[in-house]
Amino acid sequence: MTQNIKIAPSILSADFGHLADEVKAIDAAGADYIHIDVMDGHFVPNISFGAPIFKCVRDVSNKIFDVHLMIAPTDAYLKDFADAGADIITVHAEAGPHLHRSLQAIRALGKKAGVALNPATPMDFLSHVIDDVDLVLCMTVNPGFGGQSYIPVHNKIKAVREVINASGRDIDLEVDGGITPETAKDAIGAGANVLVAGTAVFKDGADKYADNIAAIRHSCSSSISGA
Ligand code: DX5
Ligand code: ZN
Repeated sequence: MTQNIKIAPSILSADFGHLADEVKAIDAAGADYIHIDVMDGHFVPNISFGAPIFKCVRDVSNKIFDVHLMIAPTDAYLKDFADAGADIITVHAEAGPHLHRSLQAIRALGKKAGVALNPATPMDFLSHVIDDVDLVLCMTVNPGFGGQSYIPVHNKIKAVREVINASGRDIDLEVDGGITPETAKDAIGAGANVLVAGTAVFKDGADKYADNIAAIRHSCSSSISGA
């Protein structure tokens, strides 16, 4: 288990009319990564935004931009997101026929590569691509919407943590969906080290974002010290 917990607010829950200000606000409030949820209305039943909108907010923060592509296919769009300033680009295991090729394409663009697993995605493929990834994203909701309830896929998170530890490399284990101070504790206890949170961060106005991020972070510290 790692003590180095990172919080990645998802701008899906931000006010899209003031997106740049919202990104500045979560940067100032203590976000570690800025999580960018891209949805295509095809791989997931919702549409969010694409690379041009992402590009508009990229330069307002020096934090790590963590781009989660919920789109299929992915490969034709990787360069757009790399050029727009992504630091990490994550694709879903089911998004294309050649996961290994997509991961290599992301790295060839000079970016960190992530693979996302839906709650029902088996993880037996993971050991075959572990040397090609810098982040594994375990979905704790079915992707497509913010504000859903947490699905406790803790056995899978633990198993992913074992594969990561066996690799000997510094690979992020990110969880995404339904994260609150309460569920964060369980996800961290299972082995995650990056927590994506939309609803739980972007609530009660920008004045509260720092408190909201701190509440998630502190619940994890108590989970770690009590573990
Ligand atoms: C789900 C997205 C998530 C989600 C997080 O498809 O990938 O990033 O919006 O939002 P909350 O924290 O509201 O579940
Ligand atoms: Zn996401």
